[in-house]
Amino acid sequence: MRARLTPGTPIGGEVRVPGDKSISHRWLLMAATATGASRIEGLSRSLDTRSTISCLAELVPSARPALEAWASSPSVTDERDGSTWNREASTLDLDTLDLRAEGRRSLQRPERDLDCGNSGTTMRLVAGLVSPSPFETVLRGDQSLSGRPMERVADPLRRMGADVTIQDGHPPVTIRGSALRGIRFEPDLPSAQVKGAVLLAALAAEGPTTVSERVPTRDHTERLLLALGAPVRPNGPDVILEGPFQHEGFRGAVPGDPSSAAFLLGAAALTGGHLTVLGVGLNPTRLRVLDVFGRMGLEVEVEVEGQEVGEPVGTMRIGPGGVLRPVRVEGSELPLVIDEVPLLAAVAAHADGPSRFEGAGELRVKESDRLAVLAEGIRGLGGEAAEDGDDLVVGGGGLAGGSARSSGDHRMAMAFAVSALAARSPSEIDAVEYAAISFPGFFGLLRSLGADIEVSG
Ligand code: S3P
Repeated sequence: MRARLTPGTPIGGEVRVPGDKSISHRWLLMAATATGASRIEGLSRSLDTRSTISCLAELVPSARPALEAWASSPSVTDERDGSTWNREASTLDLDTLDLRAEGRRSLQRPERDLDCGNSGTTMRLVAGLVSPSPFETVLRGDQSLSGRPMERVADPLRRMGADVTIQDGHPPVTIRGSALRGIRFEPDLPSAQVKGAVLLAALAAEGPTTVSERVPTRDHTERLLLALGAPVRPNGPDVILEGPFQHEGFRGAVPGDPSSAAFLLGAAALTGGHLTVLGVGLNPTRLRVLDVFGRMGLEVEVEVEGQEVGEPVGTMRIGPGGVLRPVRVEGSELPLVIDEVPLLAAVAAHADGPSRFEGAGELRVKESDRLAVLAEGIRGLGGEAAEDGDDLVVGGGGLAGGSARSSGDHRMAMAFAVSALAARSPSEIDAVEYAAISFPGFFGLLRSLGADIEVSG
């Protein structure tokens, strides 16, 4: 499907965004291996979350009926009407998954290979989850996921005692699980997915596991484990988990995804609108994007209103900014804006000078080579952008309008759309249906907030 975006209208209003994807994956995995009943409200209906659901439906047969019932209604939102996520967000409040499990022994040898779709988080976290289970699991993905690096997760799981094979560093990932022992793990690359995989495996390992991060990454796994009473101790750059530990069922409402909210905040900022996002996750390890916005002259007000299973939740508000300043994002802060660089680059195209995203090589192994796709897309939209080694330089000065290829990457489709809404003439973006990987109904929601968008095909 293609989107044609005509600039000139302000984007604004009051909105909720779909449940946080990172949190949804983790709560699902823990609910399916808890003892007793869990109730999760507001789960993300993104395609990535559905990949985790479909893996769990194979691994936990007793939970399959509940998981499949949840997944079959409502269907994935059509980007043409965006009906699932509308301004009232009524479905969000009613969207409840009830699961009952009998602890880790609910995990059974899967009868077929597990399909992780486009979701690297599903593949890496599930690899950690099944590593202590005495059976073989094969994890596969779509074309994009099949090219992504897996040694980073295979290595620590092997060191814990699992037999993990991959092919030339890539999926499929075959895990023959066994009794695990705790390890001290100092990742070379900052990755919340790998940290999460190791901590999930450590829950069923003998003895302490320490993950020592030189550069901090999102801490959703640690927060969840703490909230569930696991013997986990954050200690400066270290997280220490004393296994084994069996958690009980829990209840919670998934906060809105701040990475999804960032696209809407960017759209409001670039078009001079006022936007309020309600019920959004305000975990500090996800808010560096707001800091970068601030450096560009865009102030976002944040108010924490409560906690859900250890995750702060509240409201974000943005109003029209003044002159948009260029920004420099250093390599050391990159892990905390890893998913927002596409949006930040798209916003930076409208700054009054060149911006630089440094040491961003990790972006090359996401759902697409995001550095290359961003540079080409911004140029396609009539702006200036170039790769400089593993840095991305975005010229600023605005966009003339044009067309951009999103390469089947959800965040590219959304970032280009936001940027195009402030161009000097209409633009076209391809493959916009991929937005549903993380944000089903994005284009419909954007339209309901005032954007002039036609989706066809
Ligand atoms: C995620 C971690 C990040 C991020 C991804 C979700 C998670 O990946 O890009 O969208 O939920 O742990 P890395 O930790 O591999 O950088």
